[in-house]
Amino acid sequence: SKHYKIAVLPGDGIGPEVMAEAIKVLQVVADKFQFQLTLTEALVGGAALDATGVPLPPDTLALCKASDAILFGSVGGPKWTGLAPDMQPERGSLLPLRKTFDLFCNMRPGQIYPAFADLSPLHPRVSSKGMDVLCIRELTGGIYFGEKGRSGDTAFDTQRYSVAEVTRIAEVAFQAAQKRGKKVTSIDKANVLQTSILWRETVEQVAKNYPDVTLEHMYIDNAAMQLIRSPQQFDVMLCDNLFGDILSDEIAAIAGSLGLLPSASLNGSGFGLYEPAGGSAPDIAGQGIANPIAQILSAALMLRYSFGEEAAAQAIERAVQQCLEQHIVTRDIDPKSTYGTAAVGAAIVATLQQETH
Ligand code: NAD
Ligand code: IPM
Ligand code: MN
Repeated sequence: SKHYKIAVLPGDGIGPEVMAEAIKVLQVVADKFQFQLTLTEALVGGAALDATGVPLPPDTLALCKASDAILFGSVGGPKWTGLAPDMQPERGSLLPLRKTFDLFCNMRPGQIYPAFADLSPLHPRVSSKGMDVLCIRELTGGIYFGEKGRSGDTAFDTQRYSVAEVTRIAEVAFQAAQKRGKKVTSIDKANVLQTSILWRETVEQVAKNYPDVTLEHMYIDNAAMQLIRSPQQFDVMLCDNLFGDILSDEIAAIAGSLGLLPSASLNGSGFGLYEPAGGSAPDIAGQGIANPIAQILSAALMLRYSFGEEAAAQAIERAVQQCLEQHIVTRDIDPKSTYGTAAVGAAIVATLQQETH
């Protein structure tokens, strides 16, 4: 039977708490949909630094290379922020993993379902119209990976993009739009940045091969505003590395919480890294109150994109929706709620076990 090897990297803060729930969910669907999972845990981030002295130990990297996919929690926290840049959990583990596996395409889907628009902090006048956005973020280029430096009172980070880098991410955006609302909004700052001018020209070229998809360009500042004013105008948002980082947190908040937004980081080979869009949430870590849904939905994306287990992925997504409908939610969504991380995970597991397909 089918057998998938997963590198499980819980990391820091709430990472291990939400990962525990995602693993329970994976075990239930593996049973139900009859595939085998080998889940192997390894250290990453601050947890790895504390135990081994480096944020991405060679053993962890070797495990990732020997696996079919990586399920990632989150890394970083106040304990490690003062370290040299390449020793920091974020720059020393997550960014190298993205680069090593050439995971240039990051997908972050965010929805407001009209049936439970009250999860959104937007006014009902806006949220009742719903939202269904797919943020496609370039993940291995731009200002994150350009030349950096610091001397004395000056520091710099360089943003560089090549036509090839923009072309490959734009192709993904147009192909995704063909299967959805047939619209791409490309986000840039072409009124100021050279890289954005190249980005815009390149996206225009790619668009010629997708005449069935409408292309629109929008400046980043306007896009941040338009998302709040009328998020239902967007379908696929195509972003560079930094703009996608920022807009995806905004999309998450509009959907209800950062704790709801999953992500898939892909290189086109089937291999992928799957992680919540949010971070290690040091402010709530260790309290058992983190929202596990982003981690659980990230596991569903792994089943879909890396393993082609569409039925299992959809079963997880339906179970999550049922939980939300029954208002079994953590406090990030409803401050009055008394459900914790494990209770929400257990409700999703129970829903999956009850469901017949
Ligand atoms: P954060 O995403 O960790 O938290 C921002 C806010 O959202 C906090 O109030 C937090 O409590 C809340 N939040 C996030 N996820 C939640 C969840 N699942 N349930 C409930 N609430 C949730 O961002 P931050 O505070 O700016 O960063 C904290 C650390 O996480 C930093 O070290 C940062 O670099 C790191 N980080 C890591 C990743 C990653 O590993 N992929 C992503 C983002 C941030
Ligand atoms: C994310 C995170 C990371 C990013 C950090 C932790 C490096 O914020 O995945 O959104 O900026 O890409
Ligand atoms: Mn981010």
